[in-house]
Amino acid sequence: MKDEHHPKSRFHDHAQAKEYDRRAAQSEYRGQLVAKLVEALELTGRERVLDLATGTGRVARPVAERLKGGMIVGLDEALAMLRVAEEQKEKEPILGFMPAAGKAEAFPFRSGVFDRAFTVFALHHFGNALLTAQEALRVLKPGGRFVVLDPVVASEENELDVRIRERINEILSSGHGERFHYYSLKTIRELLAKADFRIVRADLHTFALDQEGMDGIPTGRHWLDVAEQLQSDPADLRRRFEEKHFRFEKHGEKVRVRGNFYFALVSGEKQ
Ligand SMILES: C[S@@+](CC[C@H](N)C(=O)[O-])C[C@H]1O[C@@H](n2cnc3c(N)ncnc32)[C@H](O)[C@@H]1O
Repeated sequence: MKDEHHPKSRFHDHAQAKEYDRRAAQSEYRGQLVAKLVEALELTGRERVLDLATGTGRVARPVAERLKGGMIVGLDEALAMLRVAEEQKEKEPILGFMPAAGKAEAFPFRSGVFDRAFTVFALHHFGNALLTAQEALRVLKPGGRFVVLDPVVASEENELDVRIRERINEILSSGHGERFHYYSLKTIRELLAKADFRIVRADLHTFALDQEGMDGIPTGRHWLDVAEQLQSDPADLRRRFEEKHFRFEKHGEKVRVRGNFYFALVSGEKQ
């Protein structure tokens, strides 16, 4: 099934959505990060949970396993991803999981109905992340938590690091559309605080890797595009990127990557 509203996005094509799901199921790093997310949600079992940009429901599954009587709604704008979620659910039921179509900028829910909301590997896609955080605040009950897990740029220590973040985002938005944007741990914290959340945790998870190809690294292929395009940038910028992020070597079709990949896990409470 094609979603005619977004013909260019891979999330709106059934075959590509299935391929996304297949890769996601195999990634060990993703599994480790999702385990951290589940821990940060601090579930007791009876919560009503919102998985914002649930995709194929890969993250909803381990969260649902922690629920005893609670429920989890998986919202996403891509019908093709939701269809794969339904197909997976038919193969292996996910108790209490309900996929739903909708946008991150205007949730189709009443205010104050959820105990937890989270979004995984999706914040960088949202057109108006502040509006999304404000929507999360609106639909949560007082004391409810919003947890964000997303790939981020390295923490910035100087002017050159700031230039690198700007350059990374320039490259990403020219390839994936204007709204595509990588944050840092600090800017995700600031975003949640601006939406009026009290920050309860903000952790940076770093994977120091030396491996063949980008398989298993969430959003790894985007990072490789960035690194390739930076090859024609000034040497100081390129060197700093390699120091803080990674370097790569191509041998024919194969690519070897050595360096760091960063993920932010930030949790905010509605006061
Ligand atoms: C990389 S996938 C992540 C899916 C899932 N959270 C996971 O980790 O497997 C990003 C998802 O965000 C969804 N998405 C992107 N922008 C969105 C928006 N503005 N509103 C709703 N969903 C959106 C896409 O359709 C896609 O399913």
